[in-house]
Amino acid sequence: MDANEARHRIDALREEINAHNRHYYLENAPVISDYEFDLLLKELIQLEELYPQFKSADSPTAKVGSDLETQNAPFKQYAHLHPMLSLANTYSIEELRDFDSRVRKGVISQFTYNCELKFDGRGINLLYRNGILVRALTRGDGTTGDDVTRNIKTIKSIPLQLKDGSGYPSEFEIRGEVYMPFDSFNKLNTQRELDEEPLFANPRNAAAGSLKMLSSKAVSGRGLDCVLYHLIAPGYEDSLHSKSLEDAASWGLPISSHSRKCSTIDEVVEYIREWDDRRHALPFPTDGVVVKVDQYSLQRELGFTAKTPRWAVAYKFKPEEALTKIESIDYQVGRTGAVTPVANLSPVLLSGTTVKRATLHNADQMDLLDVRVGDFVYVEKGGEIIPKITRVELSRRPADSRPEVFPAVCPACGTALVRDPEQAKFFCPNSDGCPPQIEGKFLHFSSRKAMDINIGEVAVHQLCEREFVKELQDLYSLDDFQLLSLDKWKGKSVENFRASLEKSKQVPFHRVLYALGIKNIGETTAKTLASHFKNIDVIKDASREELLTVEDVGGTLADSIINWFAEPRHLNTVEELKKAGLKFSLEEKASVSDTLKGMTIMITGNYSIPRDTMKYYIEAHSGKVGSSVTASTTYLVAGAKAGGAKLEKARKLGIPIITEEEFYKIAAPGEEESPAPDNELTLF
Ligand code: IVH
Repeated sequence: MDANEARHRIDALREEINAHNRHYYLENAPVISDYEFDLLLKELIQLEELYPQFKSADSPTAKVGSDLETQNAPFKQYAHLHPMLSLANTYSIEELRDFDSRVRKGVISQFTYNCELKFDGRGINLLYRNGILVRALTRGDGTTGDDVTRNIKTIKSIPLQLKDGSGYPSEFEIRGEVYMPFDSFNKLNTQRELDEEPLFANPRNAAAGSLKMLSSKAVSGRGLDCVLYHLIAPGYEDSLHSKSLEDAASWGLPISSHSRKCSTIDEVVEYIREWDDRRHALPFPTDGVVVKVDQYSLQRELGFTAKTPRWAVAYKFKPEEALTKIESIDYQVGRTGAVTPVANLSPVLLSGTTVKRATLHNADQMDLLDVRVGDFVYVEKGGEIIPKITRVELSRRPADSRPEVFPAVCPACGTALVRDPEQAKFFCPNSDGCPPQIEGKFLHFSSRKAMDINIGEVAVHQLCEREFVKELQDLYSLDDFQLLSLDKWKGKSVENFRASLEKSKQVPFHRVLYALGIKNIGETTAKTLASHFKNIDVIKDASREELLTVEDVGGTLADSIINWFAEPRHLNTVEELKKAGLKFSLEEKASVSDTLKGMTIMITGNYSIPRDTMKYYIEAHSGKVGSSVTASTTYLVAGAKAGGAKLEKARKLGIPIITEEEFYKIAAPGEEESPAPDNELTLF
């Protein structure tokens, strides 16, 4: 490679790594495994070393990946008292020994390592003053972090006040990891599955996502935990890192009990080997071991590079792989008609669980891997819950193997599949006649966030199979004889089912609208449509143009609404459900409060909630929404990208201009949270 080629490769790697950093830190949805990411970073480090003329302070090798939220700035940001760095990492014992040689070079005195588990969550920096927790910041860009104190305070193991008289310094920072134990993670994903929300790929993403939620009430239900591993406090200059953690434990802080002091690199390797196995029995996720020089004096001597300390290294465990055979490939039809290929594998042990199935995602992915029935494939579980197939072992491909052909017709109902060009997925268009889609329609309708009806998957399957139900309204006219014919259904289950049907008549309009299962109408869209149109008949009669005037409604959604209402069966369902007593219009509810009574609020720009929801929020607090800035406007609430003309007019007229956050404080004083779309506050 000549210098010119190197420069191109360096540019490409930087761009790619920056994109992955965004997926990882901001969207909490990485698209490649840590291992793959670390390989890219390693390649960039090596190229920059070979071609130092292309080094740049802006390179991802010189900066830590940033988790700072820049859109809408939902959190206050504060500077860390000391920069928050990352760790150099390696997957090889040989490189670990190189690290040891570098440390030993020029060191005369005896020193030791402190070996710790590498907890797999998201870094956090706590600030204690006079024993009180005053602030919790995310790592951010290493210099400044997002203030997530309210969320951190919901974690039980983090003391709001340290133990009296335990001798803590008057001010100190302590860093650690917020993580999600496997139990909490499984519970969360099970619930999300029931609610048909996208699942978190692994506990780390779930922890990171939870930390950045706007509702601390919601965070408290996520079952997060925390462990602290890095104290920065005066008085330890000549002491040991391990001693500082012991002291922190005595002040009441959560410190890991799995650390070990080692005097030689062989002992360190021993610790690593031991935990590579034992970690599978831990109730929380770990992805490696952190090796730190224990003596603060030596740490000072060794110092830092731009983004990592020279006195510590992370040894990361390689994602585990197993080789197994593809026995067959199933094509599963989901509620929306999407067809997903799933490989049935010869059972194989991987990271402590037996893997029998792996998703192949879609036709493109299948083509890319060229997987065939009978192939031996590598399965990986790099912290992800759903194992994935990474590659085919071509040397073991049977001579008579044939390329896998994606089915042309729906495996459940035989209808010709259509390809959705945007999602690289095939769909069965027979939404009203395809059994899994019909069952899916009932399960969606009954789900907790929709009508919350007491009925499970098995019962729905049986009701559909026996043709006791065909349309949603049929649920409301089932007789006892039919219900008691269901597997394991006794008097009590019938009673519960009927009680939940009765209760569903009180479910507010926006949830009923969501429950109908109109393609592309999720919970938030249903709220927006409900507050805009106020009544199902108005939505039904709305033209495409009218639909498009609603914020967040685009062409695809408008078309799917129009198509849905064009179907006589659907109109009949709406009419029958109306007869059954469900709510198909917004209740003119008594207002939530009078805080905005007599005020005219003008809104401009983008908020963290849709504009229609904001209007509804103002009305719910007895305010009036203004149509233009005039002398009688009480406040102008300026969101992001607020228009200049309105601001200017307000300034001229002396109308107070306030931020979204300030507005919530006026509308709902004392209430902790802003009405973000994900926390169902008092809006409906
Ligand atoms: S020490 C300057 N110790 O791993 C020292 N970090 O990949 C910085 N981590 O940013 C950190 N367990 O979020 C340290 N026992 C441990 C750790 C740990 C997990 C995380 C931490 C860090 C990242 C580096």
